[in-house]
Amino acid sequence: MMNVLGIESSCDETSVAVISDGKLTANLIASQDFHVKYGGVVPELSSRAHLQIVLPLVKDALAVSNLALNDIDVICATAGPGLIGALLVGLTFAKGLAYSLKKPFVPVNHIEGHVYSGFLMPDKPEFPLLAIVVSGGHTLLLLVKSFTEIQKLGSTVDDAAGEAFDKVAKMLGLGYPGGPKIQKAAELGNKDTVTFPVADLADPFNFSFSGLKTSVLRYVQKNFKDNIIPDNERNNISASFQDAVIRAITRNAERALRKYDIKSLSLVGGVAANQPLRDALTNVALQYNKKIVIPEMQFCGDNAAMIAFRGLKLYESGKRFDLSYNPFPGIPENHFSS
Ligand code: KG4
Ligand code: ZN
Repeated sequence: MMNVLGIESSCDETSVAVISDGKLTANLIASQDFHVKYGGVVPELSSRAHLQIVLPLVKDALAVSNLALNDIDVICATAGPGLIGALLVGLTFAKGLAYSLKKPFVPVNHIEGHVYSGFLMPDKPEFPLLAIVVSGGHTLLLLVKSFTEIQKLGSTVDDAAGEAFDKVAKMLGLGYPGGPKIQKAAELGNKDTVTFPVADLADPFNFSFSGLKTSVLRYVQKNFKDNIIPDNERNNISASFQDAVIRAITRNAERALRKYDIKSLSLVGGVAANQPLRDALTNVALQYNKKIVIPEMQFCGDNAAMIAFRGLKLYESGKRFDLSYNPFPGIPENHFSS
């Protein structure tokens, strides 16, 4: 029996998970809600909060899994990308634990954690898999061929999808984090109020959300003096903006489905929590007769279950890492090819 401990601390969630004998027995997530009052994540405060909560979370995760520290066989932690100070807390803690327990340590690329998060679901994706990664920091279209082979098809040339949600929410006075607020406002609005443009780039698989963001800003400036937006208008703009993001993502996904041999689709990352986007991609999959796996909510946002799973797969594939492993500066090793 193999017990895997996973630790995630790349941004504003501290998370600890345990996979025991292939089964997820704990996925504890402590969200740092106090950043709300600053309108975004304050890196230094984030690091301090990780430091306070990581040890109690490890203890709790072991307790709910009925395991002692000594029962852990492999220790995995997010090594980047993310906020450097925040990452260092989880990473250094994991390394220290591995050193004292004399157990192997596996650094995990955060994006790869998201990429394979669909495998935490009972009905698993099948390779070759089209992974649509939509988070606060990344927007990627990946052709995932195995647990060791990922071909990058496209990415954003400017803002990430989640970043666009957050910035437009701020513009509309909806607050932070923007994604869930926009989704909620959009439920009460009409998406046909404004047709915001979807960028057409030279590379058919790339994304751009910066122009869309500017279009929303221009629309607000032109129609609402002194930035006073009535609620119903705010709801309509939210719905129209969200629809443009969904059109951009589904369009590129369809292009990939037409060009490549793909067995299944997976929508992953924080923005995968967006229900209309989930519905739209489920429809695309249905239309192209492909299987689709969208992780349940606890595996969409940042979580350690995906880090433990990714780390376990790397370990099983024979990868071994030195404790001196240090991903800084820059992004740690990933397995992308283009
Ligand atoms: O994956 P994640 O938790 O952190 C990163 O790795 O970036 O993603 C966070 C992003 C934020 O931009 C947040 O606004 C967005 O996910 N998000 C959503 C929703 N819930 C979270 N975006 C759209 N609709 C949602 N329901
Ligand atoms: Zn993430």
